[in-house]
Amino acid sequence: MDRMDYFLELYGELPRAGPGDDASTERAFRMAEHLPPAPRILDLGCGPGVQTVELLRLSGGTVVALDLFPRMIARTRAAAERAGFADRLETVQADMSAMTFAPESFDLLWSEGAIYFLGFERGLARAQELVKPGGYVAVTEAVWLVPDPPAAAREFWNEYPEIDTVERKLAVIDRLGYEEVGHFVLPATSWTDRYYDPMEARIAALAPAWAGIPEAEAVLAEARTEIATFRACSRAFSYAFFVMRRTESAGASTTQ
Ligand SMILES: C[S@@+](CC[C@H](N)C(=O)[O-])C[C@H]1O[C@@H](n2cnc3c(N)ncnc32)[C@H](O)[C@@H]1O
Repeated sequence: MDRMDYFLELYGELPRAGPGDDASTERAFRMAEHLPPAPRILDLGCGPGVQTVELLRLSGGTVVALDLFPRMIARTRAAAERAGFADRLETVQADMSAMTFAPESFDLLWSEGAIYFLGFERGLARAQELVKPGGYVAVTEAVWLVPDPPAAAREFWNEYPEIDTVERKLAVIDRLGYEEVGHFVLPATSWTDRYYDPMEARIAALAPAWAGIPEAEAVLAEARTEIATFRACSRAFSYAFFVMRRTESAGASTTQ
């Protein structure tokens, strides 16, 4: 097994693959007030599909769930089947940087904890091409909550320099020509209840068998650092949900 195998073994079985919670998914979804009755939704970086199932439940529409990893696609499909929504789910195993959907294919593009793989600005520009005029885009993104974050937090987020304040994220949304519909910061419990708490339990369960395997121990050490950084600095950063709407003119300029 290489490092990625150990990574997937640790992260791939958690209830969620990133911070989030059902109440926040619903709150953001309700902001998209003018969706058609059975919208076509793209869920980018669906992970194990928790928010995918919520979107199927809330919308009554179709969800295309996309993820790079087959394990995540399988988990999303299983979750939708358990919930009785599999007939409205399509799954796509693909790299989001090489998506081949036709322009203006979706009423809503959703991405919890995953748009950063494209980059916030680049990802939102791409999203604008994929949603219909008047369609919505809703994403969560890492944000600073304080003007002067502690050194440990800054060091942890070095690998994602696009983390910024809510105000500067809103300025990006505005610059791209979207109408801002609403935004809110995720509560600290959305990092712990279905993500870091189960991750800690899984670390404890895997650690004895992985002792002495350098690649495996490195994965565990990184996860422990991530959790410790959050617990020490949770007032300094979080994710925020940003919900926006494509105006007629904005999309027209990017799809040409
Ligand atoms: C932080 S997780 C979020 C998962 C899920 N939305 C949630 O909140 O539980 C990011 C997801 O993006 C997927 N991913 C990573 N790189 C990707 C890429 N280039 N294209 C598509 N999916 C990708 C990962 O497999 C993972 O499931």
